[in-house]
Amino acid sequence: MIRIAIIIGSTRPGRKGEAVAKWVYDIAQKRTDAEFELVDIKDFNLPLLDEPMSPTMAKYTHQHTKEWSAKIEAFDAYVFVTPEYNHGTSGALKNAIDFLYHEWVNKAAGFVAYGGASGVRAVENLRLVMGELQVADVRNQVGLSLFTDFENFTIFKPAAKQEKSVNSMLDQVIAWGGALKALREKQA
Ligand SMILES: Cc1cc2nc3c(=O)[nH]c(=O)nc-3n(C[C@H](O)[C@H](O)[C@H](O)COP(=O)(O)O)c2cc1C
Repeated sequence: MIRIAIIIGSTRPGRKGEAVAKWVYDIAQKRTDAEFELVDIKDFNLPLLDEPMSPTMAKYTHQHTKEWSAKIEAFDAYVFVTPEYNHGTSGALKNAIDFLYHEWVNKAAGFVAYGGASGVRAVENLRLVMGELQVADVRNQVGLSLFTDFENFTIFKPAAKQEKSVNSMLDQVIAWGGALKALREKQA
């Protein structure tokens, strides 16, 4: 069975990302075709990228990088829960992604985004990044609107249809994550 990290992509006090990611995790937990874990980038206290060597060299000097690397390496696929900040993903998530390289390669990913325009531009931004990291990002995505999935733009109350969109995205992440796991094992 493949292992999937649901990554909370915002770190600010009062973030909506935590409630969104927990909701995704609760839906995922009802499935029996993969194992899921919530991963909060906030827990790793990553500073702005401070490794002297490119992550492609995998020569990490800092304990925070080694811990983040070990966590991400352990998964076959990822669900990025991302806010939209200024038509892109959050700086915190981009920074956390940039810390690593090989840990991401030949894995699968899906996206759950939220914002005034359902976070679509944050996902487009992340898809560009995934290409460079050789991550297979799936087509189905979840877009949560501040207008219709949050009460008063604040309290997370997703529309009923959104659970189905989470499962459609997970179906693809699990299929591709399994295929790429087999590929990595063949290459090892
Ligand atoms: C710095 C910043 C920039 C934002 N830019 C956008 C934006 O470009 N488009 C949008 O739809 N919402 C934007 N928003 C609204 C956020 O998507 C919304 O506040 C969301 O809740 C932020 O995620 P978080 O609560 O997990 O931090 C922005 C919010 C912040 C804090």
